[in-house]
Formats: sequence, C-alpha cells, structure tokens
Amino acid sequence: MSRHGTMFVAVTAILLMTTSSWGVDTPASSKATIEKRAFGTVEGGQPINLYVLRNQAGMEVSITNYGGAVVSLKVPDRTGKLADVVLGYDNLEGYVADKSYFGAIIGRYANRIAHARFVLHGASYTLAKNDGENELHGGTKGFNKRVWTAKEISGHDGEALELTYYSKDTEEGYPGNLTAKVTYTLTPKNELKIEYQATTDKETVVNLTNHSYFNLSGQGNGDILNHRLTIHAQEFSPVDSTLIPGREPRGVQGTPFDFSQSEVIGARINEDDPQLKFGRGYDHNWILNPKGEHPLSLAAELYEPASGRVMEVWTTEPGLQFYSGNFLNGTVHGKEDKTYGYRSGLCLETQHFPDSPNHPAFPSTILKPGERFHSTTVYKFLAR
Ligand code: GLA
Repeated sequence: MSRHGTMFVAVTAILLMTTSSWGVDTPASSKATIEKRAFGTVEGGQPINLYVLRNQAGMEVSITNYGGAVVSLKVPDRTGKLADVVLGYDNLEGYVADKSYFGAIIGRYANRIAHARFVLHGASYTLAKNDGENELHGGTKGFNKRVWTAKEISGHDGEALELTYYSKDTEEGYPGNLTAKVTYTLTPKNELKIEYQATTDKETVVNLTNHSYFNLSGQGNGDILNHRLTIHAQEFSPVDSTLIPGREPRGVQGTPFDFSQSEVIGARINEDDPQLKFGRGYDHNWILNPKGEHPLSLAAELYEPASGRVMEVWTTEPGLQFYSGNFLNGTVHGKEDKTYGYRSGLCLETQHFPDSPNHPAFPSTILKPGERFHSTTVYKFLAR
C-alpha cells in the first residue's frame, strides 16, 4: 500500500478507536481525508492513481491523474442520502477508451476551433480535424488523454489535489511549451473548487475546462430533462451547423435559450428552433461576461426536484457551455453497470468562448511568455 494509503488507514483507525472509547457515534468521515489508490497502468507500464478526497460533512470526490478526470462525486440529497452525481467509468480502461470526455480536464483549447487552424502573430497553426472540419477539445490526444503529475495537499481550505501537465511546443499543433496546473480542492462547505493555471515560453492560446457530466438524481438514473436550470446570462453564442459561433451574440429573451429565471431543461429542448436543431438540443456558449475574466461570480444553478440536490456553478470565466448530453445514446457502459442514455447527463463547462483564436472581438485566449493564466470555477452542492 502507498505511503498515503497507510497514513489514511492509520488516521481512520485512531478516529474509530477514539469515537468508540467515547461512546459517541461520530462517523469516520467527520475528518477530512485524502486517500490514494492504485487505478491501473497505462501503456508503457506507467501507474495511474485514484485520489479520494473527503470533507468533514461526508462529501466525497474521486479524481484520477489520467486526464485529471473526476471519477465520482458523492453529495447528499435533502435527507442526507449520498448519491454519485457524475457519469464515468469504474476503471482506467474506460477512461482510456472514452470518447465522451467524462469528467476530464480539457485543453489545450476547450471546445472548437474552426477549420482546425488559427493565426497568431502572422504565423499560421494547423491542428487536428477531429470533429468534421473543426478541432474539438484539444485535438486527437488532448489533456484528457494525458498523464498528470499529482501532489496531495492538505490546506486550511480543505483537502486538495494539484495536477501538473507539461505540454510540449507543437504538441497537437499548438505553439509553446505550456505548463498547465489544475488544483481540485474539496472544501468543508461542499464545494469542489477547480483552479486552472498556465504559463508558456512562446505566445500561444489556452482555454481550460472540466467536462463533468452531472445528473443530480444520481448517475445512471434516467435523463436530466426534469432538472431546473438557471444561467445568469442575457446572451448566448448562436452557432452554425458545425457548432462554430458567429460573430454576434444573440439575446436569450423570448427564445428557448432563456434560463435567466429557473426553467425545466426539458420544457423547450425539442422546440422547432434552428439553434436547437444544430445542437441536437442545448450545446451552446452562454455569455457571462463579454469583456473577459471577472471576479468569481454565480454563473448557474441546477436543481433536481425529487432529490432536492442543488449545484451552483461559480466562475471567473466569461463563458459557460451548457451541453445537454445529446451525443449520449446508450452505448456507453458506465459505472456500476449503468448505461448512459440520451441526455442522461449534462455539462456546464466554464470557459472562454469557442473559436476565440479566430474571433479577435471575443475575450482573448492568448497567453504570452511572462504571463500566468489563472481561472477559478467552483461547483457547490446544497439541498433544499
Ligand atoms: C462539448 C461540445 C459537444 C460535445 C461534447 C463532448 O460539450 O460542445 O458538442 O462534443 O463536448 O461529446
């Protein structure tokens, strides 16, 4: 067993001994812990781990350093009952074969770049066309398929896992050696905080997000159409048939894209609307701030009425991709023998706008040597 695994067992044992000698029924989970478990090996024999973070309230998140994916996320309903609210796989093989980006860190550029190319300082860069004519989510082997270096941190803010990935100059066609750091912290307030940082040695573009699919009824438990969603945005980015945004934003008012007040996701998703047709449902960027990064603000709220679970999304990012799981079709075999059907999970991906490198008017995704990219997103769980 690993050093940390041994430590965890020791700490748990002391806790159990202490509580039983006091005769108090305090669960072992009343202390925040981080446990490291083996999660298999990738080609070449490199070992991969699963890190299980628990907070004092009993919330638990498991993260693997393969693709930095959130593997499970257990949060209470209104009666305190825990359920795993993210889609994923039981084992590493699932993540290696995955085509849905379950739970993963997405980079170097989240979402699409039109025609898989962009120009920076007069130099033209060609990327992989892995989504028709476009590049999607960092190319053929994006950050979701890379092994990250993990460091466990016990901070006053909660237990944290710091993941680092060094992306070489020209990897997937992008310029510059980029060091990306993603820190996941589970706070005592049932928040999963994700901090993204990046530095480069040559001017490049960067857009980082997390691609967790949420279902607040519990993963594998039907679709998400009964969930209620609020998005604090007045505009979204209309797309073409290949899901590339046009130049002009569009007001949400009077459209099925208006989530400025809490709305049932399924209420308008099948309306005869060209934008919904292009996305096969919702698969669009909502504009939280047209000017770029901003102070950590409430972007969205998701509510599942039967369980009472609520998820708030806070971010410093200017955009939010709401993807209603329209490409899921029941063929993916997920955790605990569940298959994931059409719209059985949804993503709320905090990001810069899709295709920004080809849209000088969008908030810039350019990162220069000497600068540090920094953004924060918090998924906070409540019940009511
Ligand atoms: C994003 C995209 C979708 C889809 C999913 C992954 O949300 O916008 O079109 O590619 O990722 O399947």
